[in-house]
Amino acid sequence: MNKAVTGLESARIISEDKAHVWHHLSQHKPLETTDPLVIVEGKGLRVKDINGREYLDAVSGGVWTVNVGYGRESIADAVREQLAKMCYFANTAGSVPGALFAEKLIEKMPGLGRVYYSNSGSEANEKGYKLVRQLAALKNDGRKHKILYRDRDYHGTTITALASCGQNQRKDQYGPFTPGFVEVPHCMAYRAPNGDDPDYGVQAAREIEKVILREGPDTVGSLILEPITAGGGVIPPPEGYFETVQEICGKYGVLLHIDEVVCGMGRTGKWFGYQHYGVKPDVVTMAKGVASGYAAISVTVTTEDLFREFLAEPAERMHYFRDISTFGGCTGGPAAALECMRIIEEEKLLDNVNAMGDYLMDLLRGLMDKYPMVGDVRGKGLFCGLELVKDRASKAPVDESVAAAVVAHCLRESNVMIGRTNRSFDDFNNTLCLSPALVCTRGDLDEIVGAIDRALAAQASA
Ligand SMILES: Cc1ncc(COP(=O)(O)O)c(C=O)c1O
Repeated sequence: MNKAVTGLESARIISEDKAHVWHHLSQHKPLETTDPLVIVEGKGLRVKDINGREYLDAVSGGVWTVNVGYGRESIADAVREQLAKMCYFANTAGSVPGALFAEKLIEKMPGLGRVYYSNSGSEANEKGYKLVRQLAALKNDGRKHKILYRDRDYHGTTITALASCGQNQRKDQYGPFTPGFVEVPHCMAYRAPNGDDPDYGVQAAREIEKVILREGPDTVGSLILEPITAGGGVIPPPEGYFETVQEICGKYGVLLHIDEVVCGMGRTGKWFGYQHYGVKPDVVTMAKGVASGYAAISVTVTTEDLFREFLAEPAERMHYFRDISTFGGCTGGPAAALECMRIIEEEKLLDNVNAMGDYLMDLLRGLMDKYPMVGDVRGKGLFCGLELVKDRASKAPVDESVAAAVVAHCLRESNVMIGRTNRSFDDFNNTLCLSPALVCTRGDLDEIVGAIDRALAAQASA
């Protein structure tokens, strides 16, 4: 913001917001007696609300998005320049930033070759699903059309994306869903009866094989997985899991679709989450961090082999990917994404993620030593979760209201914004989530964890 919002303007904005805006994921009744948070300005990890109150944002825009931090003039300049020159043309044609970003992206993703643009994570995933369905139609009369997804994972908000959602409360009341989606078990060691077994990762992956065999391998087209489950509780995969998943997918001709919407573009300390586990995916989708929220962009990246399945002589009129996304032609997205990538490289942010991620994990383990209520801390890079329990022995989850109270305490008493699993499961809305911008410092992390420390202390003495 170039100029401060005056008291009069701010009262008007709040009243218009209350009168007309329908907020995401929000119960509106409380807003009849309180004001909404209206964010007007940001720099680095700090944001300011319309009343001038400053917060430290530990969740990169609420939903792990603003990876390079707020107030990046160079991204705004890159987008402005591009829009003034050429704002939009349908992606049936090419664009300068579209070609250049695809080139840079593919450089970071050995084994992959094609980039398909759209405008949200849900949509990028749906492109992956449509590829599977059409490939089945082209190759074997539609039989190999089923898409497997995993308990606890989330892949988006549309009815079909929800069909592939492993979080029951996210789905509740929105069915019936698109058919042909089948759930496989989660791989969360902390809540698995055999989670302490050193072989647990392999065993968890073998559960997927059982589902493939039950459904019939000739009916299963793909498996979609988050490399590290995000909104389902920040769940990194156990040792050996992905190696076995890869082997199973190869054995049964099942395409492996990795959803990098949260992990993508550096959040976990590598460009992509799957790159920690030696995975060779067929499809990778990404959105949030691609342009750090400076413009809407999502991409579906595929192998060249998969792309070639859709190449045919023009006389075969239905044998190509007959899909479009209007806003996949917006040039602001790839222009912003190119500049984000340049920033991540020039500022060596992957190194910072690894160093700060280790520091954050140490601080969180300190909280675990101090509060029995912290049952588990998990994560990778600047992507961490603390699971809150009633007691460590039973691992009984705290009620969602307890996690909500901790988040509210951090905001109210310390001006620190943290996240939590939110109306996702019947019993497990009990994980606090942290995903600070990749530029964060030790000082920022001390402040974030200090706020959580005070909030947990308040809970412990309640
Ligand atoms: C792992 C994952 N995939 C997909 C999505 C959907 O992205 P979008 O909200 O941009 O449609 C999300 C959103 O939170 C996500 O966390």
